[in-house]
Order: sequence, then C-alpha cells, then structure tokens
Amino acid sequence: MPAKNYISNSVIRRLPRYYRFLADLQKEGTTKISSGELSRRMKLTASQIRQDLNCYGGFGQQGYGYNVDVLRREIGAIIGVERRAPAILIGAGNLGKAITYFFDFPKYGCELVGIFDINPQLDGTEIAGISVRNMTKLTAFCTKNKPEIAILCIPKASAPAVCETLVESGVRAFLNFSHYDINLHFDGIIAENVHMGDSLLTLVYNVNNREKK
Ligand code: NAI
Repeated sequence: MPAKNYISNSVIRRLPRYYRFLADLQKEGTTKISSGELSRRMKLTASQIRQDLNCYGGFGQQGYGYNVDVLRREIGAIIGVERRAPAILIGAGNLGKAITYFFDFPKYGCELVGIFDINPQLDGTEIAGISVRNMTKLTAFCTKNKPEIAILCIPKASAPAVCETLVESGVRAFLNFSHYDINLHFDGIIAENVHMGDSLLTLVYNVNNREKK
C-alpha cells in the first residue's frame, strides 16, 4: 500500500528498473547494498532513490542500506508481479510470435491466456503451447476469461475496430505495438505504446548530431 496517495508517473516508471537491477544484484550474490553504492551503480542520486522508496514507506535502514532480497520482494509486491494479470495477444504474425516465444510472461506479472488472429488458417495452430483462436471467438472468450491486458501486434489499420471490441469486452490495458493512438480514442484505458522505430530514429539523430552536443 503506498505511503503517499499520489505517486508520480516518473516514480512508477523507475520501479521496473529497480526491480531488474536488484535481480542482477541477486544473481551476483549481493545480499545487501548501501544507498550510496546503489545510487552509484544505477546512476541515480541516493536522495532520488530514498524519495522513490519513501513513496511506499521506505525500506532502508540507517547505516545498513538495503537488503537486496527484501527490497526486490517489496518492489515486486508494489508492482503486483505475483498476481499475474491475465493477458491476450492479438495478431499472431511475426511480431506476435516473437513476443509469445520471447517473453516469460509470469516474470513480468501477467499470464498469456489466449492468442487471436483474423486469419482463419491460423485458427487452432499453436505458438509456444498456446492455441491461436479466430477473432470471431474473442468476445465470448473475454466474457469467460476476463483478460485485463491486450498486447496488440496488428497493423494500425486493424486497430480501431479491434480496440473497440476489446474495450467493449472490458479490456482496459494495452501493450500497443500497432502505432494506433488508443488513448486519443478511448477514455479510461491505460496504454503502453511501443515504437521501436522511434527509438531507432532518436538513436540515429544522436549519432548524426554527436559533434554538435
Ligand atoms: P504480420 O503481417 O506478420 O502479422 C500481423 C498479423 O495480424 C497477421 O497474422 C494478421 O492476420 C493479423 N491481423 C491483421 N488484422 C487483424 C485483425 N483485425 N484482428 C486480428 N488479427 C489481425 O506483421 P508483423 O510483422 O507481425 O507486424 C505487426 C504490426 O506490428 C505491423 O503493423 C507493424 O507495423 C507493427 N510493428 C510495430 C513495432 C513497434 O515497435 N511498434 C515493431 C514491429 C512491428
């Protein structure tokens, strides 16, 4: 339970980084870390880390630092990793397949419970042990299984109608690769929009403008 009622988005965005960083420390066998060392390694100030964690009650001990296992467990609990939100993936093409094979969903707090595609030839095929169902079965599936997250791996042109069906079926959270601006068209939903092309363009800009900096 947060110690503060309002947690800023930038704090929330840093939580996965803490969580990942602490997993690396666990792998190294580090059991405790001072706030100074943690801040040096993460390139954040110690006061930033303290402020972030204080939003949730703070987990360090003066003069001791942080217990790595405890802090990672606490941050996992804050994120809600153990609850495993049910997720579905729409679009079983190249990207959809890659994400299904690549992601260890439970590690990231969700469970992939279904995959859907409009192509009738894919109906009944499997990706990583999960059946691909035709889109005609989507609404009934949502009514029964109540997925909370949809991962959109479909073309932009297909996204408006698919989003409408999903929102009507109760889905409120999207991991959106489709380049369609869901937030502009639907109220009360949360979307993480992924644009790998934008990251590449930013990188290319920085490469091309390095001397000017
Ligand atoms: P793909 O053509 O291999 O797969 C698209 C799949 O979506 C196909 O299986 C197709 O049958 C299905 N589909 C199309 N309309 C549908 C609908 N209305 N309902 C359900 N399924 C539908 O394409 P790929 O390479 O997997 O890429 C998918 C989309 O993701 C593309 O539009 C691409 O622009 C985008 N993309 C976005 C990236 C990002 O960083 N945001 C990175 C890579 C791709």
